[in-house]
Amino acid sequence: MNVPRVFLNGEFMPADEARVPVMDRGFLFGDGVYEVIPVYSRRPFRLVEHLRRLQGSLNAIRLDNPYTDEIWATHIGRIVAEAEWDDQSVYLQVTRGTDTKRNHAFPKVVVPSVFIMSEALSTPPAAQRSEGIAAVSAVDNRWLRCDIKATSLLANCLLRQLAVDAGCVETVLFRDGLLTEGSASSIFAVKDGVLLAPQKSHLILPGITYDVVLELAARHGLAVVVRDVTEIEARGADELWLASSTKEVLPIVTLDGRPLGSGRPGPVYRQMADWYQQFKATLMRGA
Ligand code: PDD
Repeated sequence: MNVPRVFLNGEFMPADEARVPVMDRGFLFGDGVYEVIPVYSRRPFRLVEHLRRLQGSLNAIRLDNPYTDEIWATHIGRIVAEAEWDDQSVYLQVTRGTDTKRNHAFPKVVVPSVFIMSEALSTPPAAQRSEGIAAVSAVDNRWLRCDIKATSLLANCLLRQLAVDAGCVETVLFRDGLLTEGSASSIFAVKDGVLLAPQKSHLILPGITYDVVLELAARHGLAVVVRDVTEIEARGADELWLASSTKEVLPIVTLDGRPLGSGRPGPVYRQMADWYQQFKATLMRGA
């Protein structure tokens, strides 16, 4: 396999030649923000929305956007064109750049570091869609600005590892008796045929896939309520789904080793999964 080409600070180069200084604040503090953009048949999915969320994250950490959307699209387009896969996951990050010494306060002159790479998009195996996945739960012990897509993901990594240690796919998070999200996904519940979506707040990431799911529900007439979902409701739901750019939508069929609903992917999930695949197919045809 060829070494993939990446973008670093204005230049395209093989990944194994890309170097970041150790004084980069992304390395020292996790002081940066990122996006993960799925690409189907070399077409970035929801690029405008991802770039809009990136701008929101940059605003929240008080870092100027180094590029216009047009320039982002050009650089991303080249990374996508040069990659060897048709379906890709494009990762981009912007950090607050390199300082002369380690200092929590922002440098006086900030030159952000910008990195873009592409990996093969590994959509979930068919068995995960048809049989569902197992999840564990944990207390959401992250900070209070989970709406920022920050590169400082230590809490998310520790929480995801709980799932991996238990042989599961995702960790479902609860804070103060409410469902928030997964360690790296949005979570939905279904009760009596109604899709329950935790409302956006500073405690969850505004998911791009979350918005797609709500749009598809609206388009196809599925009843949706956007509101706080309690832990008790989530545990007693008929269906629980996770959604993210890399996993699309997947049914959670066990939580902490106990069956969720019927313990099988539910009928509302199967509908949504069909709508999602149809929607992607339309996109791939260029419509
Ligand atoms: N994560 N919530 C969290 C905490 C996430 O990390 C993600 C995605 C989502 C779903 O957002 P979206 O639909 O825009 O992908 C929700 C990405 C995939 C990641 O960190 O790799």
